[in-house]
Amino acid sequence: MPRYANRLLTLPEYPLGKFPEKKRALIARGVDVIDLGAGDADLAPPPAAVERLAAAARNPDMSRYGFGLGLVEYREAIARFMSKRFGLTFDPFSEIVPLIGSKEGISHVALAYAEEGDVTIIPEPGYLAYVGGTQLAMGEPYRYALRPENGFLVDLDEIPADVLSRTKILYLNYPNNPTAAVAPMDYLERVVKRCKELDILLVYDNAYSEMAFDGYKPPSIFEVDGARDVAIEFHSMSKTYNMTGWRCGWAVGSKELVGPLAKVKLFVDTGAFMAVQAASASALDDWEEFVPRNIAVFKERRDAAVSAFRDNGFDCESPKATMYLWIALPEHIPSAEFAELLMEEEGVIVLPGSSFGAGGEGFFRVSFITSTERLCEAATRAGRVLARLSVGA
Ligand SMILES: Cc1ncc(COP(=O)(O)O)c(C=O)c1O
Repeated sequence: MPRYANRLLTLPEYPLGKFPEKKRALIARGVDVIDLGAGDADLAPPPAAVERLAAAARNPDMSRYGFGLGLVEYREAIARFMSKRFGLTFDPFSEIVPLIGSKEGISHVALAYAEEGDVTIIPEPGYLAYVGGTQLAMGEPYRYALRPENGFLVDLDEIPADVLSRTKILYLNYPNNPTAAVAPMDYLERVVKRCKELDILLVYDNAYSEMAFDGYKPPSIFEVDGARDVAIEFHSMSKTYNMTGWRCGWAVGSKELVGPLAKVKLFVDTGAFMAVQAASASALDDWEEFVPRNIAVFKERRDAAVSAFRDNGFDCESPKATMYLWIALPEHIPSAEFAELLMEEEGVIVLPGSSFGAGGEGFFRVSFITSTERLCEAATRAGRVLARLSVGA
């Protein structure tokens, strides 16, 4: 048998990869499973998008290749959204790249920028596409441990100079998965300035830009002066519109910075299904109607989950954004053991902090993606596991 490539052998395990199978086995055993693992809500996509998808699927033109250009209407809807939401102007053709979900672009971008000997800075805990993209491009990940005491922000000045001098890409994601941290504007300004000085590409993952509460409005990195010289920003239809399975997103930035990603994509894909692009355009145009109502549901779930986990003995902050609670565990309880027992003994799926990289140890992640009743039930079951593991500690 041919030997696998080293780039494959050195990839870490992908934590969410094994859960569908485990969940199926639990259900087959008759377990009442509460799945709070993936950031994948049980809510419906915008009706306007569903109608549009159905109509577009009946149009044979939509079944043809989208190629790199894709549906012009989708590009234009993205440009309108960036303008309405952030007050930013982007050219729909040269400064926007339609993606097959933002993960696709996030993991492909390193192919355009990193090669052997180049470092990418990867916040840990963090979204695993950054490590995957880097290693598939033969780059060298430098893992930066995010810490609660500095608000889970990356401080470039803590990174050794010899690493910074070899760094090509810094991945940042605020609002953050999994910690739910948000980034203050003055922090983003400092980062953009440093990236410019150091000639580093800032890959700004803004998948949760619309998932925020209590009046907080996450910024685009392009609200920072000078960001167009250093950053590519990634957006997703998935979380904002409950469209995770539809696979649609986009990258935005200057022509010089996003152009290379578009070129890579010409060789690895031929565009998202154009009916999905049409439906995404309708969802984007319906944003002001849909998003506040959707966020109201998530807010109710967040508040219920925070209270329920606190009532069951957990130390947990109420997040300003995202669909995640990042919950600290007592020091003597390894996160993987806790998550495994919670799944096996109580049928609740959560992600251990360690599955987001070693920097995530000491925490577990709950996605508040189901009804308040089920979230409260999950917290009660988690409290029982915590009590069992705490006996005799
Ligand atoms: C931080 C972050 N970025 C990007 C994505 C990818 O989203 P999608 O590929 O569905 O657009 C996710 C999904 O969980 C995420 O958590």
